[in-house]
Amino acid sequence: MKKVSDSSVIMHELVLPNDTNILGNVLGGRVMHLIDICAAMSAYKHARSPVVTASIDHLNFLSPANKGDILILKSSVNYVSSTSMEIGVKVESENTLTGNIKHTASAHLTFVALDDEGKPKKISKIEPLSDIEHARYKSAMKRVETRKKELSK
Ligand SMILES: CC(C)(COP(=O)(O)OP(=O)(O)OC[C@H]1O[C@@H](n2cnc3c(N)ncnc32)[C@H](O)[C@@H]1OP(=O)(O)O)[C@@H](O)C(=O)NCCC(=O)NCCS
Repeated sequence: MKKVSDSSVIMHELVLPNDTNILGNVLGGRVMHLIDICAAMSAYKHARSPVVTASIDHLNFLSPANKGDILILKSSVNYVSSTSMEIGVKVESENTLTGNIKHTASAHLTFVALDDEGKPKKISKIEPLSDIEHARYKSAMKRVETRKKELSK
């Protein structure tokens, strides 16, 4: 049994001109890349073995991050099934001049841990401790059931 905090990752990234569209807003694909990297680090910290991204749930961009903003990504394991784990990632953008922070996007990703032969491998469960960890655990458990039903169709 592992704690949620064992897999907690906070990542910062400055939005540079090359990451933006002609309006100066960060490209969605760039945010998706950073979400995948941040979630992968949480998965590694939990599983302590090779992991792969199995899926990412739908992704809504809630407010644009602009050139010069700091992207703040926070991730941790929400729920462990057997060989797979759901990771939640929240992305915020901080205006460097005002310090104002906006919610840019949130995502749920599934990572699968692999053994030496590249086959899915069982990993430790997580023990939610705080109210928010319990709430995330319960809602992730429902999403896992839904995903498994979709996969078996
Ligand atoms: C993900 C992968 C390892 C699953 O392998 P598999 O042989 O289908 O394994 P299984 O059917 O035994 O599934 C293993 C676990 O993954 C879960 N899973 C498989 N596909 C999934 C998907 N698309 N979304 C969510 N969970 C998924 C299963 O529910 C199962 O979970 P559990 O063991 O916790 O109950 C395999 O499909 C793969 O390697 N995909 C490519 C991953 C990759 O390269 N990602 C990088 C981006 S391209």
